[in-house]
Amino acid sequence: MLFSRSKSVVGLDIGSSAVKLVELREKKGEFQLVNLGLEPLSPEAIVDGSIMDSSLVVDAIHKLNDEHKVKNAAYATSLSGHSVIIKKIQLPAMSPDELAESIQWEAEQYIPFDINDVRLDYVVLSENDPGQEQMEVLLVAVKRDKVNDYQSVISQTGKTPSIVDVDVFAIQNAYEANYDLDPLKVVALINMGAGVTNINILARGHTVFWRDISTGGNQFTEALQREFNLSFEQAEMLKRGEQVGRYTSADARPVLDTVSEELASEIQKTFDFFSATSSEAPVEELVLSGGCALTPNLQQILRDRFGIPNELLNPFRRIHYRESDFDRDWLQAVAPRLAVAVGLAIRKVGD
Ligand SMILES: Nc1ncnc2c1ncn2[C@@H]1O[C@H](COP(=O)(O)OP(=O)(O)OP(=O)(O)O)[C@@H](O)[C@H]1O
Ligand SMILES: [Mg+2]
Repeated sequence: MLFSRSKSVVGLDIGSSAVKLVELREKKGEFQLVNLGLEPLSPEAIVDGSIMDSSLVVDAIHKLNDEHKVKNAAYATSLSGHSVIIKKIQLPAMSPDELAESIQWEAEQYIPFDINDVRLDYVVLSENDPGQEQMEVLLVAVKRDKVNDYQSVISQTGKTPSIVDVDVFAIQNAYEANYDLDPLKVVALINMGAGVTNINILARGHTVFWRDISTGGNQFTEALQREFNLSFEQAEMLKRGEQVGRYTSADARPVLDTVSEELASEIQKTFDFFSATSSEAPVEELVLSGGCALTPNLQQILRDRFGIPNELLNPFRRIHYRESDFDRDWLQAVAPRLAVAVGLAIRKVGD
């Protein structure tokens, strides 16, 4: 949706735990999976959403490009966290030209950063009916230096960063492409990554609330590290159910459950804020994605806490693929981590 300049694109989700690449081919409104790759990043490469060691990120993208022989040069990537501000604002009804001219000035009142330090984009949500005096505009501002950093690592691999999106919208895109949106239902899409959890609440067929929380899988890993005096890598293995030394998944469980409860509380706070500030019905279903959603027992803890159903988002639910090219079990196992990349890969020219 944002800052787009090109035709069909390769989705590249530069996450802090791994770079994920998805390339799709569209035929008669159906998508076929062409390329899929996941290249782990060391935890010091990206910290708090900032690229700290760009050479590590560039190497990971290079590897993906080469390994999958990606021909398309146009890439779409996305950002999340503190550097992204998304606001729905009311403006007096005006023509597209007038809006284009005044948006910078209007945005200044809503963006807590210096307006010269951000890249701005916007979408008119309500059509400019002749009778309407106001129109609703979705304003997206992303810190310019962050956008530059993410574009630069892509450029350094010889590709063109054609689209810079934001994670919450990429997730929504992946969801809408794979599920039938029920306009009567309030659904929360929750993408739990390593460092950030993106929440996007959908009602009446569109987004009504979004927030990024600085909690994710790293919190679980760090809790295991502290409890059992393990390295990051050892704690990652233990978290995924492998035995590490004398520690088993049964030992890990209470530690993980404590962090799951904390994460549930953070989500609860967000929902409480949503209820207090909106006239929408309460959230009726959770759709989970991101690697952290795979944490043992987390889904059950969320079910107990919220008393509503939850399910894992399968971003390949309606995407065709050859089983000779992509191993079904592997694909199912990593699918929740690929929601953002799929959402990006669906993006198009001038969206
Ligand atoms: N099977 C699993 N069980 C538990 N945790 C897992 C599993 N697989 C991945 N994770 C955790 O999920 C996180 C990575 O998920 P994901 O790839 O969605 O994050 P990311 O996009 O790299 O991070 P971010 O968006 O926060 O920068 C890591 O914390 C990892 O330990
Ligand atoms: Mg992510």
